[in-house]
Amino acid sequence: MKIGFIGLGNMAKAIIGGMLRENIVLPEDILGSAKTVSTMERIKEEFGIHVVNDNRQIAAESEVIVLAVKPIFFPEIIEEIKDEITSDKLIISIAAGKTMEWIEKSFAKEVKLIRCMPNTPALVGEGCTAVCTNAGVTKEEEEFCLRLMGSFGKAVSIPERLMDAAGAVSGSSPAYVFMFIEAMADGAVAAGMPRKQAYEFAAQAVLGAAKMVLETGIHPGELKDMVCSPGGTTIEGVRVLEERGMRSAIMEALGACVEKSQRL
Ligand SMILES: NC(=O)c1ccc[n+]([C@@H]2O[C@H](COP(=O)([O-])OP(=O)(O)OC[C@H]3O[C@@H](n4cnc5c(N)ncnc54)[C@H](OP(=O)(O)O)[C@@H]3O)[C@@H](O)[C@H]2O)c1
Repeated sequence: MKIGFIGLGNMAKAIIGGMLRENIVLPEDILGSAKTVSTMERIKEEFGIHVVNDNRQIAAESEVIVLAVKPIFFPEIIEEIKDEITSDKLIISIAAGKTMEWIEKSFAKEVKLIRCMPNTPALVGEGCTAVCTNAGVTKEEEEFCLRLMGSFGKAVSIPERLMDAAGAVSGSSPAYVFMFIEAMADGAVAAGMPRKQAYEFAAQAVLGAAKMVLETGIHPGELKDMVCSPGGTTIEGVRVLEERGMRSAIMEALGACVEKSQRL
């Protein structure tokens, strides 16, 4: 099976890397195009895939076409490739905010369409990808896509109405977590810790805490309570975070992210 990528940026790299690591496809069965020759050369060098400077050719020669450009370029890319898209080809879109209805209308014909929302931790094999399909997609095709997206982390099918929420809680949230890690490290630096070590401690604490949520199944509130000894140091920090509205700030941030995604 030939898989074609239109766009070879961060996300495409994560997907291609995962697919190759898990032997889901061979490098010679992957085609890719980018805007600049330098990107194409770099990706060809890194993964040994075929690259062509022609999106129509990618669409014509691939059975599965992954649209991996920024949402703003979707109208021109779809216009460029739509005559090459036949009813047997599977389109996978990873764009934030572009609904299946919008994409179907842009192709102006019935297409097999899967919409995915990955995130950048995919680059280190710890991605979280939400997947939804239109009526033209078979169960086998959905499972193939889950295997593809599962090659670099978790992949879960959800109804499309939850896609904007998934975009906020996993697609965009790494940015908020990086801010949290940076802020914690700044706090440790203020307390005298060398900066490099502060990032390491902060990031490892976030990794460990996330693992505890996922692996123990214990409610995050209960895990928080377990760290807070009566009259201890941790509860003092919790009190300050509550006073400064940490939880409501995060909820509002996710709400703003969902709203923006709905407007794209
Ligand atoms: N980054 C995230 O966290 C994230 C999370 C979830 C979903 N997404 C979605 O994933 C998609 C890709 O994001 P990204 O972060 O991978 O973006 P990116 O790193 O900026 O990559 C975009 C790629 O598109 C290529 N491109 C631009 N115009 C093109 C054209 N006319 N023909 C062919 N290729 C073209 C660029 O080529 P050059 O390299 O030559 O410029 C680049 O390789 C977006 O739709 C985004 O919404 C991203």
